[in-house]
Amino acid sequence: MKVIGWKGFCLVSAVVLLIAGCSDPNPSTSEEKKSGESVQVDAAQAEETYQNNCMSCHGDQLQGAQGPSLEKVGAKLSAKEIETIIQSGQGSMPPQVSLNVEERKNLAGWLAEKK
Ligand code: HEC
Repeated sequence: MKVIGWKGFCLVSAVVLLIAGCSDPNPSTSEEKKSGESVQVDAAQAEETYQNNCMSCHGDQLQGAQGPSLEKVGAKLSAKEIETIIQSGQGSMPPQVSLNVEERKNLAGWLAEKK
């Protein structure tokens, strides 16, 4: 009895490769999504965080005061870059250490949409 022919063998290996290929998700890709810039932004929470921590220097309408205007900050900086500035400060802006990670990410994402 002939088990499987040459063509059958090819088909079987192709299917096996296909399954192996599909069931091997790239772990770094899913990680990037989590910490990346496509985070869901909660605008109400971001505005509250902004008012409590940034408004005194950047103005109640992002128009700028002691600090520069942030009205079009998203055209200049990415969410990641804004997050770094909030966390570490920049020039005469002190690090905003009272924000927790979620507040910081949310606020940075919200500001990055300002362009
Ligand atoms: C004590 C005043 C002060 C506070 C509070 C403050 N900033 Fe700033 N911020 C500044 C100053 C001054 C600069 C300009 C820094 C420099 O010299 O580059 C700045 C710069 C920035 C920049 C870069 C703007 C650009 O065009 O390069 C971003 C973004 C920013 N601030 C976001 C924030 C956010 C978000 C908060 C609140 C979490 C905040 N800042 C709180 C004073 C402040």
